[in-house]
Order: sequence, then structure tokens, then C-alpha cells
Amino acid sequence: MGHTFMSRMRAGLILLGASVAVAAARHGFRSAGGHSAPGGILVKDAGAYDAFSRRLLGSFYEQIADDVARAASAEARILEVGCGPGHLSIRLARRHGLDVTGVDLDPAMIDRARANAAHSDVIDDPRPVFVVGDVAHLGFSDESFDLVISTLSMHHWADPDSGLSEIERVLTPGGRALIWDFRPGIWVFHRHIPDPVEHAQGSRLQVVGATPWRWPWKVSLTQRVELGRPDEPPRHPESRTGEAHDDGGNAHG
Ligand SMILES: C[S@@+](CC[C@H](N)C(=O)[O-])C[C@H]1O[C@@H](n2cnc3c(N)ncnc32)[C@H](O)[C@@H]1O
Repeated sequence: MGHTFMSRMRAGLILLGASVAVAAARHGFRSAGGHSAPGGILVKDAGAYDAFSRRLLGSFYEQIADDVARAASAEARILEVGCGPGHLSIRLARRHGLDVTGVDLDPAMIDRARANAAHSDVIDDPRPVFVVGDVAHLGFSDESFDLVISTLSMHHWADPDSGLSEIERVLTPGGRALIWDFRPGIWVFHRHIPDPVEHAQGSRLQVVGATPWRWPWKVSLTQRVELGRPDEPPRHPESRTGEAHDDGGNAHG
């Protein structure tokens, strides 16, 4: 009797927590809004998104930064596509000492990212470089990055096929792309969620693995998709798909 009551209470609390988390995320993403520009959809108010993402997405970036740090060697050159206000890139540089370049279509986001990167009490903090650019026309030479990452951005790209082809072009042999975006079907946030599996077919990349990403808490709003060229083993052995890591429930690699 007591045990059943406690189990029900626990289930109720989990449901309540999940509902609050989803409602808060939904409110934040909705209030960020968007408008179309050549190349993709820009967030309506870069300042509001900066504040929202700093407050509510911190644990999301933290989990991802840990995952990226495992998938990258210490010398890896990393490109973050659709970096927005730069919170993930800055975390990767500061906490993990990684060499990161962030690119975003929106000059207002790049201004925010540069300001956020400059804001540190420690003068010697490693800083990422931020540049304005479209994923479909990346201004980098072939094979210039070992890892390309992207969070919550692909559903904003006007041309995901060209975006993935460009990502493939700038990747070094054995390089990997790690893309986190809403799972297909999570339509409460956006009407159209592109499926990376489908868009990869137009590029030389193939999906190495796609796994639901547990965030927030026990809910999986997003998925982690890992892409690589066929027949190219990963440069860094930790980036193999299928290895479980102790990161609070996300099993991937
Ligand atoms: C919802 S925000 C996500 C920002 C950040 N990655 C995060 O997780 O908080 C989507 C970002 O994708 C950028 N974006 C849209 N289309 C793009 C494109 N074609 N190339 C590069 N960035 C793009 C937008 O400007 C925006 O900053």
C-alpha cells in the first residue's frame, strides 16, 4: 500500500517535472521566434535568445561539451555550425581547451558570441573564433576540420543537402560530424524538422549512428546524429558509435 503510494507519487512528480521542462523549453523556443533570410531562418531577437539559452540550455550544452570532448583529440580543429550566441563553443574552448571556430548566418548572433567570448575574468582563457557564414557555402578550405558539430540549427537551414555536402568537404579524412536537433515528430517546437538521415543521402556522408538525446532530465527532445564518410574509420577512437558513457543516461559515442 505504502510502496504503491510512493511509486505513484514518484511517477506523478516525474510527469510533472517533464511537463514543466517541456513547457519552459517550448515557451523559450517560441519566444525566440524567427524570420526567413537567404540561407535560413534567423532568430527574431538574438539578445533574447542569448539570455534564454544561457539560463535554460546550460545543462544541454554541458552534456554536449562533455560528449564532444570525448569524441575529439586534444589537437582537433572543431567547427560549430549555427553557433548562435556561442555558449557551446566558449565552453569547449574554456573548459576543455579545444580549438573551436563558430560560424552563424546571423551577424547579430556572431556579435553576441564575440562579446560572450570576450567576457571573462581570466585574460588567458582560450577563445573560440566566430565568423558570419552560411553552412551551404562555408568559407573554409577542404579538409580543414576534424570535427563539425551543430546544435538546434539544422531545422533553420534553407538547404540542408548543401549544408551536409559542405560539412563533408571541410572534414579531414576520418573526420566526423555530430548534429543535435529536434527529433522528427517533435512538432510542438517547429512544423518541419529535417531528417539528417534523409539529407545525408545527397552528400558523401553517411549516418554512423542516430540516438535520442536525453535532455531535459529524462525527456529526449533531440537526437544526436553522427555522420562520417563511408569506409573511413574515425580519427579519434572514442568517436565510435555504440559505446556507452557515464553521462547521466545518454549512451552514444
Ligand atoms: C535556434 S538557434 C541555435 C543556436 C545554438 N546552436 C544553440 O544551440 O543555442 C539556430 C541558429 O542557426 C543559425 N542558422 C540558420 N541558418 C543557418 C545557416 N544556413 N548557416 C549557419 N547558421 C544558420 C541561426 O542564425 C541561429 O543562430
